[in-house]
Amino acid sequence: MNKTKIKRLLLSDTPIASLQIRGWVRTRRDAKTFSFIEVNDGSCLSGIQVIAEDSLANYEEVRRLSTGSAVAVSGELRESPGKAQKWEILATRIHIYQFAPEDYPLQKKRHTDEFLRSIGHLRPRTNKYGGVFRIRSEAAHEIHRFFHERDFIYVHTPILTGSDCEGAGELFRATTLEPGDHKEADGKDPYAHDFFGQKTHLTVSGQLEAEMFALALGDVYTFGPTFRAENSNTRRHASEFWMVEPEMAFCDLAENMAFAEAFVRHMVAHVLTRCEEDVGLFARFVDKSLLDTLGNIVEKPFVRISYQAAVDILKKSTATFSYEISYGKDLQTEHERYLAETHFRQPVIVHDYPRQIKPFYMRVNDDEKTVAAMDVIVPGIGEIIGGSQREERADVLETRMAETGMDDSSYWWYMDSRRYGSVPHSGFGLGFERFLMLVTGVTNIRDVIPFPRTPGSIDF
Ligand code: 4AD
Ligand code: MG
Repeated sequence: MNKTKIKRLLLSDTPIASLQIRGWVRTRRDAKTFSFIEVNDGSCLSGIQVIAEDSLANYEEVRRLSTGSAVAVSGELRESPGKAQKWEILATRIHIYQFAPEDYPLQKKRHTDEFLRSIGHLRPRTNKYGGVFRIRSEAAHEIHRFFHERDFIYVHTPILTGSDCEGAGELFRATTLEPGDHKEADGKDPYAHDFFGQKTHLTVSGQLEAEMFALALGDVYTFGPTFRAENSNTRRHASEFWMVEPEMAFCDLAENMAFAEAFVRHMVAHVLTRCEEDVGLFARFVDKSLLDTLGNIVEKPFVRISYQAAVDILKKSTATFSYEISYGKDLQTEHERYLAETHFRQPVIVHDYPRQIKPFYMRVNDDEKTVAAMDVIVPGIGEIIGGSQREERADVLETRMAETGMDDSSYWWYMDSRRYGSVPHSGFGLGFERFLMLVTGVTNIRDVIPFPRTPGSIDF
C-alpha cells in the first residue's frame, strides 16, 4: 500500500476505506480500551488523530508510544465524532519504526528559537519551523513559476568566480593551497599556483554573468546561493543566503522598479493564499500585525522617493538615530525602517543614490552626481531588494571602474560586452531570506534558513 500525505487526507470529501500514513507521534492519550495518537508527517501544520483500539495485535507497545516515535498507521479514514477535527483514522495496524526515548528534546511546550537553533537537526519537526520551511519551499517554486510564465530564461550562474560584483571585498576565498603554500611565490602572484591559476572565491552575486545572458537572451534570471564574508552579526545578514536576480535587456530604471514591485506583491499574495494555514500560525504566535502588513503590501502601491527626498524626510524627523544622516552617506537599517514603518507605513522604493556609495556597474545619471539605483524597503526589515539600471556606455563604465578602484583586467569580458550591441538594461536582487522574514514575521534570518551560516557558526 502506498503511503498518503496527511495534507491530502485532510482535504478529502469522502471517507477512505483503506490507507496508510507514516510520520512521527506528537502526543498520545489513553482511554480505557483505546488510545488517541496525534501523528504528524510534515506535509502540513496539522497532524491527524489516530484511534488505536485494544484489539490491535501490538496494543501493549502502542501504549508506550511517546512524542517523537516513528510509526506507519494503516487503517480507515472516517469522520471524527470529536469537534476538534473533521477526519480521523481508525487504525487496523500500527507499525513502530522506533520509539523515541524520554529525553527527546522536543517536548510539548514552547521552546526558544535559541534553543531550537542548538538542535538544528530536530527543529524542522516543530510547528514553527515546519511552517517556515514549507513556506520557503512554496515560495521558491513560485519564483520559478513567476519568471517562467513571463518567458524569462533561467541561467545557472557560477558559484566559483574570479570577480567581485559588489566591489565590497566581502569574499570567501576558494583555494586548494595550504596556508604555507602562499609564501613560495617570491614576488609573483601567489595564486598563480592555485587551482584556477588566480585568486578565486565564492560568488557574492550572479549579476555580472546574468547581464551577459540578458544581452543575448533578453529577459533572464538566476536564483541560487550567494556568499558574503561580512563580519556583521546582525539579525538580517547571513554568510550564505539565496538571491533571486532578474536581469532585463531594453529596460530602464522606471520599468525595473515597476517590475520589482509587481514581483514582491505577487509573491506575498501567493504565500498568503497558498500557505494560509502556516501563515495563520505566524500571525497568531510570531507577529500579531503580520496579516495587516502583508495585506497592505498586496493592496497598496509602493511609495517611490529619491534618495535626496529620503534624506530630507529623515533630517526633518524628530526620531533619534544612532547613525547620523547626511547627503552622501548610505542609509542605515534604522533609517530605512523609519521610512517604511513610521513615516510611510508601507514599502518604499528609494532611487537615484549618490554615485560614491554605489557599485561600479550602476548607470550614471545626467546630473553626474547620482546613479540609477533603487532599493526596495519594507516594514520590519529594511532593504529587501537592491537593483539598478546598468551602465551600458563603455567609456562611462571605464571611468566608474577606475573611480571605484576595480581592477579592470579581471573584468575585461564585462567591459567588452559594452562594445557589441550594448543596450540599456536593468535588474535587481531580492534577498530570499529577507522575503521569508517578511512573510513569516520571523525577526532573525537564522530562523528562515535550514542550516544557517553566520560568523563563528557553522554547526550541522
Ligand atoms: O543590494 P545587494 O548587495 O545587490 C546585489 O547583490 C546586486 N548585484 C543585485 C542585482 O542587482 N542583481 O543585495 C541584494 C539583496 C539585498 O537587498 C538583501 O535583500 C540581500 O540581497 N542581502 C542579504 N541577505 C542576507 N544576508 C546578507 N548578508 C545579505 N546581503 C544582501
Ligand atoms: Mg544593497
